[in-house]
Amino acid sequence: MGIAASNLRLAQGKLTVAAPFLIEQDWAAYTPEQHAVWSELVSRRMPQLREHACREYLDGFEQIGLQEDRLPDLKAVSARLGPRTGWQSTPVSGFLPADAFFEMLATRMFPTTTWLRSRDSMGYTPEPDIFHDVFGHVPMHAHPVFADFLQHYGKVCAGLMHDPVALERMGRLFWFTVEFGLIRQDGAVKVYGSGLISSHGECSRVLEGGCEVKDFELDAVMDQEFQTSEMQPVLYAVEWCDQIYEAAKLAESRLG
Ligand SMILES: [Fe+2]
Repeated sequence: MGIAASNLRLAQGKLTVAAPFLIEQDWAAYTPEQHAVWSELVSRRMPQLREHACREYLDGFEQIGLQEDRLPDLKAVSARLGPRTGWQSTPVSGFLPADAFFEMLATRMFPTTTWLRSRDSMGYTPEPDIFHDVFGHVPMHAHPVFADFLQHYGKVCAGLMHDPVALERMGRLFWFTVEFGLIRQDGAVKVYGSGLISSHGECSRVLEGGCEVKDFELDAVMDQEFQTSEMQPVLYAVEWCDQIYEAAKLAESRLG
């Protein structure tokens, strides 16, 4: 059994419902064209992000060793992430059912797709790809507070599988933090949500004032409906990263 296969077995052994969705990333199979697409995606996003992404994201980007000229090897990303926060970027076959997704988060494994969008859909993909998942999400997992928040979020949701109303409210917390979160830093609104990090169009619209930015407040967030396929009319800004971890604990005490 090779190293990749033994890693896969090890990860599967820690999971129950999510185990069937785990795969190996065949990094050697990516083509020069795919590396070139990744490179173009990263180089298009970085000028805006260097100015408008939060500190935690930019630090995480360096810490997990992402490269502009080649697609990430998830084993190498996890090897850098593990000693910092215990998180792994774990390859999965595609979209996960909710219970499997929460189980992985609660185990500090981030379900990561391995496919990459093609050159003719650089701007948008309806389903997450490796650019959205790794470039968009994983740098934040190097931050200790965000790392603790995300695991706790998964644990709370895993315990709410019997309660669809509570899960819908928790889904809004995820959407307005992990996917589309904003944070105030250095007198400006900065982005940390992966949907903004990985999308030039959506991020530009928010930074240019095309969406209402409200102060983060748990009840308001949990009451706020959203459409996944439309630009967001309202987003929420936290003052510091600890606020979302506190929000997850507060949500747990109310919904659990
Ligand atoms: Fe996402």
